[in-house]
Amino acid sequence: ADGDAAAGKKVFNKCKACHAVGEGAKNRVGPQLNDLLGRTAGTADDYKYSKAMIAAGEDGLVWDDAALAKYLANPRGMVKGTKMAFAGLKSDEDTADLTAYLKGFSEE
Ligand code: HEM
Repeated sequence: ADGDAAAGKKVFNKCKACHAVGEGAKNRVGPQLNDLLGRTAGTADDYKYSKAMIAAGEDGLVWDDAALAKYLANPRGMVKGTKMAFAGLKSDEDTADLTAYLKGFSEE
């Protein structure tokens, strides 16, 4: 289902301690998330990823709706060894809304 980007902006509050989006977004604890949709995992410029995230990208992981939904529900379950310390989003609706919000910062 298509998410609601305005609602997703609020969900992104859970991510903001570690991630930035928008003009001039910089890498923080986590990589900046502009142009995330369609991006191969582990490839934001000048960010030091875990070996696990780089390996996931080399194995073909690309951030699309389905991959994001799976990762955000259980980051360490999907990418074993990821250094993203986030328990996961419990609500599919939150995930869909957040993905719609992040799409607004992707060129796709
Ligand atoms: C990586 C999204 C919350 C820290 C990532 C990646 C995505 C993502 C898509 C992979 C990016 C890439 O491959 O370039 C999100 C979203 C969040 C969230 C949507 C909120 C729902 C957090 C929080 C933290 C965090 C709260 C810090 C406590 C990191 C770190 C990485 C990462 C350190 C790099 C992982 C690695 O190299 O293994 N995040 N994240 N994230 N995130 Fe998050």
